[in-house]
Amino acid sequence: MAIRNAQQELLFRVGPGTPSGEVLRRYWLPVETSANLSGGRGPVQPSAKNPVSVKVLGENLVLFRDGSGKPGLLAEHCSHRGTSLCYGRVEEDGLRCMYHGWKYDREGNCIETPAEPPDSNFRLTVKHPAYPCVEIGGLIFAYLGPPEKQPPFPKYPYLYRDDGIIVAGKGNRIQHSNVFLQTLDNVLDVWHREIAHGWFKGGPAPGAIHHARGDEPTTPIKFEKTPWGACYVTLQNTRQPGIYEYHETHAVLPVQRGRRTSSVWAVPTDDYTTRWFGTSFHAYDEHGKIPESAIRQMQQNTPSDGGGPFYDGWFEDVGHWWNLGHPLRQGPIWEDEAIMSTQGPEERGRLPDWDKWRLGTSDRGVVMMHELWEEQVERVQDGLDPIGIIRGPEAEQIMPMPGDVLNLSWEEGKRRFDLSIEERMEMSLKELQERGQR
Ligand code: FES
Ligand SMILES: [Fe+2]
Repeated sequence: MAIRNAQQELLFRVGPGTPSGEVLRRYWLPVETSANLSGGRGPVQPSAKNPVSVKVLGENLVLFRDGSGKPGLLAEHCSHRGTSLCYGRVEEDGLRCMYHGWKYDREGNCIETPAEPPDSNFRLTVKHPAYPCVEIGGLIFAYLGPPEKQPPFPKYPYLYRDDGIIVAGKGNRIQHSNVFLQTLDNVLDVWHREIAHGWFKGGPAPGAIHHARGDEPTTPIKFEKTPWGACYVTLQNTRQPGIYEYHETHAVLPVQRGRRTSSVWAVPTDDYTTRWFGTSFHAYDEHGKIPESAIRQMQQNTPSDGGGPFYDGWFEDVGHWWNLGHPLRQGPIWEDEAIMSTQGPEERGRLPDWDKWRLGTSDRGVVMMHELWEEQVERVQDGLDPIGIIRGPEAEQIMPMPGDVLNLSWEEGKRRFDLSIEERMEMSLKELQERGQR
């Protein structure tokens, strides 16, 4: 399969009515972190953080929390004469426009029009665009698609387990490029992990993947389709002789990189910008306490939550000495941003020039993802649910999603590597049941 500009230039767009925009609108997407939206149960305190403006899939929206503590997501511009509701006042039962005081509830019903005559029923003819929200795991998710297609909120294991703590974040990290397609490519790009995140910055020479070190076995790699997208599995050698890293990462459509206990979302803000969100679940330790790993994760989230040092034109400023210890280089997140934001030139809005790509054997995961995405575009055009939408009783259960990074002996690792996706899901299901989570 060739990946061509003519096709991709249709597919990168995320607005309403675009082929990919319609696929993205069939899933629940994170739109804000809970921490960035003030308020809670009890008397409403309007603040700088309630309401807040958010942009998702090219739509300008306003997010607020009324007296019930629940978030509501409305179109930004008032249905009356368009003033931004971001300047509105949050009240017990809704959000009031600053201009003439029209008030909307979380469903977009217009519940007051104070400038109209007291006996007027005009407000009943007004329905302001509103999207349903779910708040879980420190993130606020919204569904922007057609109401009749709205799926139940998916029970991702990293959001629904309650035998530990969830660290959420990254909501402040905006990327000045459209990378939802490249992110899916990158999730299944096994090789860049070893090169860009390792050897390139002074790690051991690449080779673990293609060629065994000394007389060690060659690294096995496989790509598989899953009920949510696709995944790759590898068993790579480590610095410790006899210890191998079992590595399984999932591309969860539409915009996630997921493992059993963590996920990162690359949510398109508009056609040329992306906002990242992330959560990771950390099970309590044997004493029922928050584990060290959660605290480390909190500390790690801080720099990437700070908005980041990337700005329009940053690459032109520093790109040529990227490899020489520039302070912007702060680990895999930054490396991935540099990788994805520079696949295309500024004049193309940083979109890759796909016509010029020379795909090799190591790109088979990328090709698989593009095919998978195109399949979803067709499914949605045919009126079907895209992959990963779960309805009915199964939607009540925590998803038995596998995906781990584990240090194992060759035999143990190989045994796990050889399991099919169904067998690994079965293992995850058993573990959830043992923990009383299902
Ligand atoms: S513009 Fe919002 S109430 Fe008039
Ligand atoms: Fe990466």
